[in-house]
Amino acid sequence: MEAHLLEWLNLAIRWVHVIVGIAWIGASFYFVWLENNLDRQVKNQDLAGELWAIHGGGIYHLQKYKLAPATMPKHLHWFKWEAYSSWISGVLLLGVVYYLNAATYLILPGSPVSPEAGVAIGLGSLLIGWFVYDLLCKSPLRHQPMLLGVALMLFLVLVAWGFSQFMTGRAAYLHVGAVIGTMMVGNVFFIIMPAQRNLVGAIEAGTQPDPALPKNGLLRSRHNNYLTLPVIFIMVSGHFPSTYGHEWNWAILLGLSMISVAVRHYFNTRHNGQQFVWALPAAVLALLVMAYVTVPHIPGANAQSSSQADSESVVSEVVASISSDQAHTIVATHCVSCHSSAPTHAAFSTAPAGLMFDSIEQIKSYKDRIYLQTVASHIMPLGNSTGMTQDERDQLGRWITEGAN
Ligand code: HEC
Repeated sequence: MEAHLLEWLNLAIRWVHVIVGIAWIGASFYFVWLENNLDRQVKNQDLAGELWAIHGGGIYHLQKYKLAPATMPKHLHWFKWEAYSSWISGVLLLGVVYYLNAATYLILPGSPVSPEAGVAIGLGSLLIGWFVYDLLCKSPLRHQPMLLGVALMLFLVLVAWGFSQFMTGRAAYLHVGAVIGTMMVGNVFFIIMPAQRNLVGAIEAGTQPDPALPKNGLLRSRHNNYLTLPVIFIMVSGHFPSTYGHEWNWAILLGLSMISVAVRHYFNTRHNGQQFVWALPAAVLALLVMAYVTVPHIPGANAQSSSQADSESVVSEVVASISSDQAHTIVATHCVSCHSSAPTHAAFSTAPAGLMFDSIEQIKSYKDRIYLQTVASHIMPLGNSTGMTQDERDQLGRWITEGAN
């Protein structure tokens, strides 16, 4: 019952998170696009630019002021709750998915870090991440956007590597996403909103607004625009075990992030010419390279038996060939407490991912997915709660590569 309620809590929060996230990122993309496409050859001296657009059957005429109109409009629309609610729902989701069952979902099997400590580090890293990023933005590096980007990337790589030392691959990825997401929402809360309040306050008071604040706000909102793409990948990364489940998962995340930032940069600068057009073929090439590098290793193809760090190298010839009955026994011992029509594991009321391995026919029909999760990586059994040994993984792997007969 509890597991069932948790699933629905997860459903509700995740749904909200995706909806408000789309609203936030949609607005962010739209306003960066607007900024980039403003027609700056306007006659009106007070205007920075204007833009005409057609959408939903109507024509829109937008104007951006250099600083502000002489009098405040009656209705000024603000964009902040999309960001705040994305962050709040995101943190709640971290709690429901990773913290309520931290021993299984958060902590890497065999790690000396306790679940409580893991939760504390996870939450603490959100705060630390913001402070480091904000300091970088206020340091002399702020005059060197390229160096600032590199410094931030190095910091995030360190964070990702650190997480991967004691968190499961999925949790490590999600936490990097949460750290970046917190930087983004911090930009809205601590930088962009105060700048906007200052601007509006000055107009209402009839004083001169401080022009440095909106400039800084625009800069941070551009940072957010670049940070969005890696975060979106991280949010869907749970579907891609060859990334988060890989021994070099943090490096793969770095590669994908660099690709996405380069592509974003091309789209952000396209109106100024095509000098970054190389980012598109480079991204495709880099994706191919990463797909190649992460090819799951087939036992017998070479001497190493598994891509995971904790395995010793086992020469495949020494792994015993096993019968289907023996394979069934391994799966029954290590998987069926969860993957069954009637799971006995307390955390599940229905089979996770809809996969049931009760019969040998079911096991055979899912053999490729079983291979990826259990042999090519150590993602399953979840949290290795059943203590599956390397020998058992190798035997199951050999059985599958020999045709599962
Ligand atoms: C403690 C419970 C638990 C145990 C034990 C367990 N799993 Fe899973 N398994 C899960 C959960 C939860 C998911 C769903 C993950 C998700 O949300 O995508 C899953 C998903 C999977 C998937 C689908 C992943 C994909 O994206 O294709 C496969 C395959 C799988 N498990 C195989 C196994 C095998 C093989 C074993 C035994 C060696 C095993 N599992 C043991 C909980 C468990």
